[in-house]
Amino acid sequence: MAHASVIAFLFAVIIPVAQAAPLDTAAWIMPAVTYPIDNPYSEAKTRLGKQLFFDPRLSSRRMRSCASCHHPGLGWADALPHAMASRNALSRHTPSLINVAFDKVFFWDGRATNLEGAIRQHLFSPDLMRGGRARDIVARIEGLTSYNKQFAAVFGSHNGITIEHISAAIATFVRGIISRHSPFDRWIAGKPKAMPASAIRGFALFVGKARCSTCHAPPGFNGSEFHNTGLNSLDPGHFEIADEPRYRNAFKTPGLRHVALTAPYMHNGSKRTLEQVIGFYDRGGDRPAENNELIPLQLSAQEKQDMISFLKNLTGRPIKVTIPTLPTEQRSPPRNEETGSLFNPWHRNNLLRHTTLQSVDD
Ligand code: HEC
Ligand code: HEC
Repeated sequence: MAHASVIAFLFAVIIPVAQAAPLDTAAWIMPAVTYPIDNPYSEAKTRLGKQLFFDPRLSSRRMRSCASCHHPGLGWADALPHAMASRNALSRHTPSLINVAFDKVFFWDGRATNLEGAIRQHLFSPDLMRGGRARDIVARIEGLTSYNKQFAAVFGSHNGITIEHISAAIATFVRGIISRHSPFDRWIAGKPKAMPASAIRGFALFVGKARCSTCHAPPGFNGSEFHNTGLNSLDPGHFEIADEPRYRNAFKTPGLRHVALTAPYMHNGSKRTLEQVIGFYDRGGDRPAENNELIPLQLSAQEKQDMISFLKNLTGRPIKVTIPTLPTEQRSPPRNEETGSLFNPWHRNNLLRHTTLQSVDD
């Protein structure tokens, strides 16, 4: 049986190299995504979340959507070292959203503990989505006729459009951005020829001598702990959230299943290629700071190549996505009974915003 032969291979080749306990192959098989009890999956919710993901009207100037920075064609990231902001780039790199459904902590510093919360924080963030105040965000979405119908259908007609519901719908769409059927997935599921020999040797190094899997854990090659890997960066990282000295310059351990698609790397975008990442780990980080948890690996040129080959074999099948049609029909503002004037907070806010737009810096 194919599966038995992979296991035989693991015992014959990987285990002696790793000199560790027998490898639990099942641990590396990707499970199905689970949805939280308070935000269960539905097809209509995913469809709505997808529209909102691509809709620039969530931002106050209607100029950026989630996809502006988490672009499907760029590994659901932006290929920039630092995320675009207004005039100056932000200090952090945009992480990919592939497999974020399997994470337990969000943002490089872990300031959100669930996906819905991370998205809600984005909407208000003056750096990220720049949505403005909650009621303005809601008013902009309420101003579009078909969104009202869709939110009512998904969340019930009472109070359908709220920040919570916007975040819940987007989170449901984002949970579907999953990397599957990589050569590694097929190999670990029992097809010995699915991955080239160099990648198999790279995996042996990953779980063995190079100790990568102590932080990049199965099945997503991610981790919920924060680590200091000795990058040259003044960013306090998780220390800002947890206020414990061991978390100074410590960051979230990102998943690696799609990593060949998402250069550049690290919270500060400081590594341009996988070759640079491996060189960085090989020398035990860039900075021998007291908190740096890495130790130099002294890999041979062949071992470095094997490691890169392994990382490239983590890329799954392309995640197909079509850009959705977005609502364009605007709800006509109700007439104010007393004055007969157009009175609707959405309309009024719009007018106010337009009159001040010229003086607002972006
Ligand atoms: C201006 C660019 C930008 C926009 C627009 C943007 N993001 Fe982000 N996103 C980032 C950056 C940068 C981070 C990391 C920030 C940090 O760690 O402090 C991030 C982090 C995230 C994370 C956490 C990922 C992880 O690995 O922890 C999620 C989830 C996310 N974004 C989803 C979204 C969604 C959904 C939207 C739309 C509502 C959105 N983003 C809009 C740049 C952006
Ligand atoms: C001590 C824990 C730890 C070990 C050991 C470790 N990593 Fe990491 N890895 C991290 C953390 C934390 C980050 C994010 C660091 C940052 O941005 O500050 C990261 C980032 C990465 C990235 C960049 C991902 C991205 O999307 O930006 C790659 C690739 C990577 N690691 C591969 C490896 C490989 C290969 C090994 C073994 C040679 C390894 N890691 C060992 C914790 C670790």
